[in-house]
Amino acid sequence: MSEIIKGIKESVSAIEDRIVIGEHYFVPLIKEEDIQKRIRELGEKISKEYNLKIPVFIGILNGAFLFLSDLIKNVSIDCEVDFLKLSSYADNKISSGRVKMLKELNCKVTGRDIIIVEDIVDSGLSMKFIKELIADHKPDSIKIASLLLKPNSLKYDIKIDYIGFKIPSQFVIGYGMDYAQKYRNLKNIYILNE
Ligand code: IMP
Ligand code: MG
Repeated sequence: MSEIIKGIKESVSAIEDRIVIGEHYFVPLIKEEDIQKRIRELGEKISKEYNLKIPVFIGILNGAFLFLSDLIKNVSIDCEVDFLKLSSYADNKISSGRVKMLKELNCKVTGRDIIIVEDIVDSGLSMKFIKELIADHKPDSIKIASLLLKPNSLKYDIKIDYIGFKIPSQFVIGYGMDYAQKYRNLKNIYILNE
């Protein structure tokens, strides 16, 4: 086992099914099999709805990388993939309009059918910003796929076209989603037990 994997294992002490991080603990919310089953359904739905089109999936880094890769494996039509990475808005960068682009789009968006792929929509602020940014490039259509949605936290009028699961408003980790940049590698999704 590599030093890196050993390091991750040591920082997570799993007591039975719980993930303990300092004084917080997380319990399983969605198991790997259920995540994969739902993604298969979403992939099939998208394949039908975009039949004869070539959509561009735009994954929002870092959180959406696992969801995007599993989703496109279940898409049976031709498609393209690109990624977008924005600085976090922990210091209000988005609301003040000064968000930094850490990785810009490389694909041509104009005239294309875009599917934005996110790990989780919480307040909807990030997605509102991302959608407006992509709309500026005049695509033919924009739809949004988010593995998770916290409906009780939503503050912006954002329509999510493809939702994996609706979940409670507590913090979640695993399957791409992090706590202080760790735990993205967990196969299941865990929720903070408060
Ligand atoms: P929003 O802008 O409030 O909708 O937050 C969305 C972004 O915040 C997502 O792209 C995630 O990166 C992050 N986020 C929101 N809730 C969680 C969570 O429960 N776990 C991990 N990241 C989260
Ligand atoms: Mg994210």
